[in-house]
Amino acid sequence: MTSNCKRVHAGPYIVDRACYTDPEIFDQEVERIFEKSWVFIAQASELAEIGDYRTALIGRQPVIAIRGEDGEIRVFFNSCRHKATMLLTEKQGNCQKIRCPYHHWQYDTEGNLKSIPRYEAYGGALDMTRLGLVQVPRMGEVFGLVFASLDPDAQPLDRYIGDALPYLKDVALYLGEDMTTIGTYDYVYDGNWKLLMENTVDDYHAEYLHDYAFVQRAKVFGMEDSGGFMSEEGSHFSVELGRHGAFDQHDDKRTLVTQKVRSRRVYLNVFPSLIALYNPVWDVTGLRIMIPEAVDRTRVINYVLAPKSADSERIRLIGERFHYSWGPGGRAGVDDIHVFAQIQKGLQAKAGGKIIISRGHETPGPNGGPTEDHAVRAFWSGWREFMGDIAEPADGQTIDASMEQAYAEN
Ligand SMILES: [Fe+2]
Repeated sequence: MTSNCKRVHAGPYIVDRACYTDPEIFDQEVERIFEKSWVFIAQASELAEIGDYRTALIGRQPVIAIRGEDGEIRVFFNSCRHKATMLLTEKQGNCQKIRCPYHHWQYDTEGNLKSIPRYEAYGGALDMTRLGLVQVPRMGEVFGLVFASLDPDAQPLDRYIGDALPYLKDVALYLGEDMTTIGTYDYVYDGNWKLLMENTVDDYHAEYLHDYAFVQRAKVFGMEDSGGFMSEEGSHFSVELGRHGAFDQHDDKRTLVTQKVRSRRVYLNVFPSLIALYNPVWDVTGLRIMIPEAVDRTRVINYVLAPKSADSERIRLIGERFHYSWGPGGRAGVDDIHVFAQIQKGLQAKAGGKIIISRGHETPGPNGGPTEDHAVRAFWSGWREFMGDIAEPADGQTIDASMEQAYAEN
């Protein structure tokens, strides 16, 4: 693969600022990463009934996941075969027919073109049976999560997720039980899409940026003197899972106030753009999907999940606790979104030096210590894998050589 784009340094230990700020690199990411990998589209409970649909984006390309009359879930491009109009505009819903607003061409839930107003003017030269909605080349489902890929040659979904599969299972199923989406919401932050992917598995920032939340938690559990027992000793890791990464922790049993059966906290990155989260203290499960709108603007689609068997009162409480911990006005979310805008501003200092991701470089993977960068480096290995010749080869890049390069530009 060749390109006229400049090459950038992207790990393993340092990263060029241009990776977060250069619009050309952003365009290449959309083509090479989002249009070549597997991207999350919908959670199965959104597509439970015939005609249930969810709209989504793969990079910038609009798609629809819909359960057809025959019971099958399909993923189509969200674009009319006539003049390309986007067909469905709601985030999700149910429809028995998909009708284009422009000239009322109409499709069924299996994507077949069923009617064209004033068809005779085409003079019999237009074969409706060949003008069904175009299906996205690949679709797959794991643990109730529906993914799609625009690359017909993408490796099978389970192989793509690879070592992250057990972690994804742990979050997407509730102790093996299917989960239901009880709500979704979006927000937009002023920063590059990769900032939140890195942030989620960066435990280093938590006690500093979110210090207020830590103090509060220590008070709630009467642990001011102990530093607030975050987790069981020696059981929290930054984990490399190929191109994916996780923050994996066993929380101290004393903090488990809402439930006592799960102590494992998992914050998982599925490359490139899905985050799956379970917090055992609040007993809440969430998904975050990055939608890259511009090099410095990202939409985040948030899913709130509950076990399928949960009654309305349990769902209400899960929603409340989710809001308190990860919601737009919650304990941690606002700090992160605020700091992303500040990072993006800082990144404008183009010659301000390299980004440093070398914490724990002396600890062999896959498991690094809790505040180490193993999961962040895993993300960047995925980035290099997909970006091809744009990423300078990382082979032979020693920590010493990397740091010399980082100092030279500071
Ligand atoms: Fe954070």
